[in-house]
Amino acid sequence: MNCLSPSLLSSDLTRLSDQVRLLDNAGAAYFHVDIMDGSFVPNISFGFPMVKAVRSLTEKVVDVHMMVDDPIRYVDLCAESGADIISVHYEACKHLDAVIQRIKQDGAMASVAINPATPVSALSCVLDQLDMVLVMTVNPGLGGQKLIPYTVDKIRELKKLSDESKNSFDIEVDGGVNTENAGMLLDAGANILVTGHALFSGDLEENATQFLNILEE
Ligand code: DX5
Ligand code: ZN
Repeated sequence: MNCLSPSLLSSDLTRLSDQVRLLDNAGAAYFHVDIMDGSFVPNISFGFPMVKAVRSLTEKVVDVHMMVDDPIRYVDLCAESGADIISVHYEACKHLDAVIQRIKQDGAMASVAINPATPVSALSCVLDQLDMVLVMTVNPGLGGQKLIPYTVDKIRELKKLSDESKNSFDIEVDGGVNTENAGMLLDAGANILVTGHALFSGDLEENATQFLNILEE
């Protein structure tokens, strides 16, 4: 299924509940919460109280993207705070297999994110344990950047692997997604689109409708 995952990093935090409700009613199926630690990425964003707040505002899928060094330290807290899907970065894990197992033990769906310069082959040993792969189409840490074109080849490669595998997985794309490139990203094989800047700039309802129409086509 194709889904929209609004990145709340670009939301108006003074109106978070209104914006989540509007998007929920419009048909967003996921809500993307970016956790940044100021170490794995230069920026600091939200912590787990934000995950709890979003959890209390919607029944939809709470999609947590941990841009955090050594994320196993926070997996339990993330799941307890209400995350349905937890993405950890391949580049941030010392023992990736153990982190994936911990996410599953906690009852959440397991996802691994790869930075633009990380090849798909880095995940070959763990792919059949994953519910989702998050393909970063910008360098993580900041909303509003431009999609890096070569990352789209990795979506195609992952789609082929997912189709060939007994355990297919979702492919989420994150960074620089807009209404001009969304169709191309879906054609490449992504089925969950994260969008921040392009969704929250201007009229939120109109933008959401445009994205959701593209996802339904
Ligand atoms: C960037 C974050 C993204 C970001 C996407 O490091 O992981 O989720 O908020 O925002 P846009 O769509 O503005 O690139
Ligand atoms: Zn993200």
